Amino acid sequence: MSNVVLIYGGNSLQSRLKGIKDYAESYLKEQSISYESINVIDLPATDLITANFSSSAILDANEKVEKADAVIILSPVYKAAYTGILKTYLDLLPQKGLKGKAVLPLMIGGSFGHLLAIDYALKPVLSSLGATNLLSGAYVIDQHVQRAEGNEFILDEEAKERLKGNLETLVEELNI
Ligand SMILES: Cc1cc2nc3c(=O)[nH]c(=O)nc-3n(C[C@H](O)[C@H](O)[C@H](O)COP(=O)(O)O)c2cc1C
Repeated sequence: MSNVVLIYGGNSLQSRLKGIKDYAESYLKEQSISYESINVIDLPATDLITANFSSSAILDANEKVEKADAVIILSPVYKAAYTGILKTYLDLLPQKGLKGKAVLPLMIGGSFGHLLAIDYALKPVLSSLGATNLLSGAYVIDQHVQRAEGNEFILDEEAKERLKGNLETLVEELNI
């Protein structure tokens, strides 16, 4: 069984958000914690925008979430909030689909101007999905993530520190 599921709400796997996801996954790997990913952009677009609750792809994704002990939600800041892409999938989770799970929000933005988007935009939705163990979350900005060859990314120390602290807390929650 996978302990952690990562829900990737970016519109491209070439985004610097992918660098954050890669960092989170390698941290989990180091800790010997199993994980699975849901890339919302890989789910059928028609099912997402028509809110097709009976779609097999959506049901498979929901099963991954149901089995997980912890969920990492990743999104870039778009227009001062999380992406519409992410919301199309969150809308298809069961009413209390995050109940009983540790939930860690991770966001990237162009600047720190929307640092609070985690708190005023993303967290209320996660709470409404039943998340009561909602970790503080980390916000990274573009300039802290450099693109490298082969869709690899290099995070600077500040970004790593923010992410690592949150991932450590998540792992502590899993070990309770
Ligand atoms: C449509 C759109 C809206 C955006 N809105 C914001 C915003 O309101 N605040 C912000 O800090 N960054 C904003 N950004 C920047 C992204 O959050 C983020 O920096 C970007 O997705 C990561 O860059 P990359 O995908 O090019 O690697 C926006 C980007 C796009 C494409």
